[in-house]
Amino acid sequence: MSLNEAVKNLSRREALLVGVAATAAACSSDPMPTPTGDAAADAPGADVTGNDMPPPQDAAPDAAPPPDAAPPPDAAPPPDAAPPPDAAPPPDAAPPPAAAPPPDAAPPPDAAPPPDAAPMCPPAGATRLGAVSDFPVGSWRNVKAASVVVGRDARGLFAYTSVCTHNGCTVPAPSAGAGSSCPCHGSTYNSEGMVTGGPAARSLDNYRVVVCGTDVYLQMSMVVPVGTRTAV
Ligand code: FES
Repeated sequence: MSLNEAVKNLSRREALLVGVAATAAACSSDPMPTPTGDAAADAPGADVTGNDMPPPQDAAPDAAPPPDAAPPPDAAPPPDAAPPPDAAPPPDAAPPPAAAPPPDAAPPPDAAPPPDAAPMCPPAGATRLGAVSDFPVGSWRNVKAASVVVGRDARGLFAYTSVCTHNGCTVPAPSAGAGSSCPCHGSTYNSEGMVTGGPAARSLDNYRVVVCGTDVYLQMSMVVPVGTRTAV
């Protein structure tokens, strides 16, 4: 058969098929059957043999379990909270002002001093040397009863021991304006009893002279410096 003949045969068959279909549609008034339970077999994709379709596989394989979540890193411990600054100590309380001292009490008026008691004259224990007239100015006199030399110059009366400081010999009264010499070992003293040569090493002690009225007394309990005078 040639190609043209084959085409013609095909067109003829299609025309027959169309005609058959139209006839069937016209003759049938039944609605289209509703697919039943078996319709699933008619569903597209159903096995034309009527066998049930194998159950679909799970669309996706089970998801792999997530990897164990990494444990969170240990939370860094919070930095030690800075200790609160020491509270500033309260300022020292200002000391209370010193109480003002009470005004000085007015001192009591000075009590009137008692009148000077009249000095005892002659003093207790004093030794009488003689009358003032016995000791003229510019003279030296040895009073053996008291072991003293009494002199008098323009300033007054004075007295010193006549016992030599070297070995106890009696030193004579000096001449006016001169010294004296110990007869025992030659120690020398001036007109006031100061040692001026040995062997004596110490001057002759001067004692206090007291004039009571017209009399002259010696107080041997009181040694006075060389040069002391009792005015007359
Ligand atoms: S006792 Fe006077 S000098 Fe010796």
